[in-house]
Amino acid sequence: MPSRRDFLRIGAGAVTAAIPWRLAAHGRPSLESVQAGSDDGSILLYSNENAYGPSAKVLSAITSAAQSANRYPRLRYNSLTEKIASVHHVSPDRVLLGCGSTELLRMAACAFLGRGKQLVHASPTFEAIEHYAASVDSEIIAVPLTSAFAHDVDAMLGRVGPSTALVYICNPNNPTASLTPRKDLERFISKLPASTLVVLDEAYHHYAGTSGMYGSFLDHPVDDQKLIVLRTFSKVYALAGLRLGYAVASPKVIQQMRGFATQDNVNAIATETAFVALDDEEGVNDFAQRNANDRQEFFNQAMARGLKPIDSHANFVMMNTFHPAQEVIQHFHKNNILIGRQFPPMDTYIRVSLGRPEEMQAFWQTWDLLPWTKNLMMHH
Ligand SMILES: Cc1ncc(COP(=O)(O)O)c(C=O)c1O
Repeated sequence: MPSRRDFLRIGAGAVTAAIPWRLAAHGRPSLESVQAGSDDGSILLYSNENAYGPSAKVLSAITSAAQSANRYPRLRYNSLTEKIASVHHVSPDRVLLGCGSTELLRMAACAFLGRGKQLVHASPTFEAIEHYAASVDSEIIAVPLTSAFAHDVDAMLGRVGPSTALVYICNPNNPTASLTPRKDLERFISKLPASTLVVLDEAYHHYAGTSGMYGSFLDHPVDDQKLIVLRTFSKVYALAGLRLGYAVASPKVIQQMRGFATQDNVNAIATETAFVALDDEEGVNDFAQRNANDRQEFFNQAMARGLKPIDSHANFVMMNTFHPAQEVIQHFHKNNILIGRQFPPMDTYIRVSLGRPEEMQAFWQTWDLLPWTKNLMMHH
């Protein structure tokens, strides 16, 4: 059996060999970034997953769905689409399933972007659509977040022109966990030309809470053909590994995106499990509450160390370490804790996905091993 020492050495070797958190050319994390999977015992605080695993109800749905793994699930797509439509009080022709919301981002890029067309998005934000936009030769315009880490809707409006086919808005935003006020988004959307579509990515919706500043565009829709709202089962439902997301948009937009869907894109187990997950109100509330507790504890620990994270409305936290983020990331990696990669231009910030309490204890113990953290109190 390899000793713990050997194990650590292997881990450290991987860091220097691959510098795994660097981005490839178009903002796509390199494949190496996932080399250290959960089966090597690392603590995974890097992908904003639900650290607790699916609820008991959802888990049992997964197990029984496994029996139908021999069948293509496509006969059930209509029922699931109808189910999602009824949850959001829309007609089924406004709903599209995807292999994770990532596939829906790809479909949107393929359907609406291309040479001579522009994507406008924030910096930093979730970069999958930027990657797909680059793949279809779109021009990409990145507009810095405001000092409050909200989307700078006025600056974004200023960059929108006749060739702007798509605007991407992530709310709450990844990687900053911050909110853009609902009223700003409404004003923004109403001022966009009819030829510009807006992708509103609500991946972290369930963690945003009930603050008046936030309002989901699914729960409180505006009557606007320009909107494409995305949701995923990868976060509060704890099904990132099953790959399922959906888009809600106008029937025409859905039809255009559907042309770029992979056939049979949602697997049988995800399809069946989704019905149960959508009805699992208790599970969702439980995870949202746990997340609120874990987030509060993170802030308590951070403040006790003189740190002041960005106010979080998601299941992860971003904070300034006043030190090159890459060094902090590598320090954690050497100690078998994977945290989020560097997010330029926020080069002294780290993004930490909230883990279980014992995992977060390990996080803070590892934090305290950083030689310079004692001085942080002097910054404040
Ligand atoms: C904002 C945002 N959108 C979409 C995704 C992709 O999620 P999935 O493809 O698992 O639905 C993520 C994943 O972290 C995300 O943070």
